[in-house]
Amino acid sequence: FDTANREVYRPAYHHTPVWGWMNDPNGMFYQNGVWHLYFQYNPYGSTWENLSWGHATSRDLVHWKNEGTPIEPDALGAIFSGSAVVDSMSTAGFGQGAIMAMYTSAAESQTQSLAYSTDSGKTFTKYDGNPVLTATEPDFRDPKILWNDSAHEWNLIVSAGQKMNFYSSPDLKNWKYESSFGEGYGCHKGVWECPDLLKMPGGKWVLVVNINPGGPFGGSATQYFVGNWDGHRFSCDSKPETTKWMDYGKDHYATVTFSNAPNGRHVALPWMSNWQYAAVVPTMQYRSANGIPRDLSLFDDGDEQYLSVKPSPEVMQAFGKRTSQLSKACLVEIDHLRSNTVITLSNRKGEQVIMHYDAKARSFSVDRTNSGKTGFSDAFPCVTTAPTHGNVSKVYLFIDHSSIEVFGSDGKFAISNLVFPTTPYEKIVVKGGKYKIWEM
Ligand code: FRU
Repeated sequence: FDTANREVYRPAYHHTPVWGWMNDPNGMFYQNGVWHLYFQYNPYGSTWENLSWGHATSRDLVHWKNEGTPIEPDALGAIFSGSAVVDSMSTAGFGQGAIMAMYTSAAESQTQSLAYSTDSGKTFTKYDGNPVLTATEPDFRDPKILWNDSAHEWNLIVSAGQKMNFYSSPDLKNWKYESSFGEGYGCHKGVWECPDLLKMPGGKWVLVVNINPGGPFGGSATQYFVGNWDGHRFSCDSKPETTKWMDYGKDHYATVTFSNAPNGRHVALPWMSNWQYAAVVPTMQYRSANGIPRDLSLFDDGDEQYLSVKPSPEVMQAFGKRTSQLSKACLVEIDHLRSNTVITLSNRKGEQVIMHYDAKARSFSVDRTNSGKTGFSDAFPCVTTAPTHGNVSKVYLFIDHSSIEVFGSDGKFAISNLVFPTTPYEKIVVKGGKYKIWEM
């Protein structure tokens, strides 16, 4: 069936489901040169229902192949978000290199279940001892599993209301409660969801906590905490009232990283939408794309450490051709930014996106109030603003049919936003900088 080309807003180099509804990225892992992406998926329609895990694979993080729907609802409930690991030592007993997925079984209560794959993630069999973890809390979901090298066991983080619960296990089946983190820390204007825990070079740990609602511009967003993890307890380096955001756009949620990525990389993938309007954005056959993959590391600003967010090198490399024309799918590189730079993208209908770098305020903003179709939700038209953590000399704009993602070239800020121009932006004006355009 030829659905792929009829959607004017379908991106060219961002992952989308062939058709149907998608939300969170799930169970992402890397093995033998292949990046595996699973995702919250409704194969039967383009709104949130019948939650299953869809599957797509890629060798370059740019081109994705649809691999079907390997995990479907069962008697324990719908299949909500979760993670996957490569069990190279067969700790769970399903063979060396088996893929172990853990997800939330969602019915009246939310419990955690396992499924295993012995064909590199193509098909999964559910573990007959499911569920492997239960609790009495109403919001108890999104299990993230990771191998703890020093303790030689598995760790698990499950979001529980407005905190994160930590567990340990030798075999992924039997879990021991260790501790909780969250009370009094960061933003609590919504439910904590979709955790991740990353060991950074230098020994620090980053706890990623997606939150909905309560984001800096309303609705869903991704906060994180820098600190220490000793296999039992997470401690945060910052004052409790400090809140750090991974992205300063409105369309960056449920962001987690690939397990087993090469060279110790932390490659993160956002769901590029917002629960405020994800179900009403003007696409028909499918809903939602992922943001481009981004590599995470840490940088210092004063006494604090922050996440550096850079477009993954695979995506940068894909843009090898210089062109003079702005198009529906291109990369704009803007350098020699001055202290007050205004970048305007516009089309012949007068629709525009205005970006402003203000060195004095140390901020970079994106205004999509007049970007095209905005009336489908009151929460859509907006200006989002990022702190730049110092001077900015160069930025990248990734433009693709219905999104603009801005990255400071030094990784110090990222802004991911959807836009729905009625005809593509064809003109760029940069006041206070020089630009180059690249295409694939
Ligand atoms: C986050 C979320 C998760 C849940 C999933 C259900 O967007 O609410 O907490 O597992 O979506 O689709």
